[in-house]
Amino acid sequence: MKIIAIANQKGGVGKTTTAINLSGALAYRGKKILLLDLDPQANATSGLGEEATSEGCMYLPLIGQARLEDNIIPTRIENLSLVPGDMDLAGVEIELAQMPDYLSRLRQLLVELEKTHDYDYIILDTPPSLGILMTSALAAADEIVIPLQCEWFGLEGLAKIVHIIEHVREAGIGSPAILEGILMTMYDGRTNLSKQVVEEVQNYFPEQLYKAIIPRSIRIGEAPSYGLTIFEHDRGGAGAIAYEQFAEEFLKRRS
Ligand SMILES: Nc1ncnc2c1ncn2[C@@H]1O[C@H](COP(=O)(O)OP(=O)(O)O)[C@@H](O)[C@H]1O
Ligand SMILES: [Mg+2]
Repeated sequence: MKIIAIANQKGGVGKTTTAINLSGALAYRGKKILLLDLDPQANATSGLGEEATSEGCMYLPLIGQARLEDNIIPTRIENLSLVPGDMDLAGVEIELAQMPDYLSRLRQLLVELEKTHDYDYIILDTPPSLGILMTSALAAADEIVIPLQCEWFGLEGLAKIVHIIEHVREAGIGSPAILEGILMTMYDGRTNLSKQVVEEVQNYFPEQLYKAIIPRSIRIGEAPSYGLTIFEHDRGGAGAIAYEQFAEEFLKRRS
C-alpha cells in the first residue's frame, strides 16, 4: 500500500480532477483504490457523483470519535472506494490544533487501516490552503504528486510547495514523503506560455516531471458536473487519453 497525496497550496490547479481521474484510471486497471476527500469543499466527492456527509467524512475519525473504516463507502466504479468530504472538515482544523499529535493523526489512521485492508493506493485529495489538513496529508503521504497549471504563477507556487514538503520532512512529523511527480495541467498548445512553463519545470525537475500532459479541455471541466470521471464522460477524448497516459506512467514508475 502506498499513500499518495495530490497537493498544491494553490486552488484551481487540477488537484481534485487529478485525484478523481487517477483513482478512476487505476481502479479500471484493477488496482484497489481508496480516495480520501480531505477538502471541506468536497469536490472530489461531488465530482464522483457522491454525497458529502458530515457524519461520514474524516472529521470524526481524525478527532478519534469514529472509526475510519466505518466511513469508507464503495462507488459505482469497481475497486474504487471513497471517504467523502464535507464542509464540517473546516472545523477539524481548530479541534485538531488542540491535540498534541495533530499532524500525525491522519498517518496513524491510515497505518492502522493498512492492517485490515489491502488497498494498492490511498489517494489523498487535499484542500488549497496551508492548514492542518494539508500538512497532515503531506505528513501522511509516502509520495506527493503536484498538479501544476501551465501558467506563470504556477511556477511560483511550485517553489512554495517544494519548500513546504521539505519543511514537513525536516520536522520529522510523518513518513519522509518524497516529491514523486509533477503533472502539468490545463496545457494550452496554442500559447507559448504553456510551452515555456513546461520547459522551465523540465529544467528544474527533470526526474519528477511526468511526460503525460493534461490539456485544457472543456470535457475535463464539465465531467464533475455530471459526477463522472473523464473516462465515463468522454472515453477516447483527449482528456481521457491524457489521464490514461498519466496513470500508465504513474504505474510504470513503480514497477
Ligand atoms: N484540464 C482541464 N481542462 C479544463 N478544465 C479543467 C481541467 N482540469 C480541471 N479543470 C477545471 O478547473 C477547475 C479547478 O480544477 P480542480 O481540479 O477542482 O482544482 P483544485 O482541486 O486544484 O482546486 C474545476 O472547475 C475543474 O473542473
Ligand atoms: Mg480541489
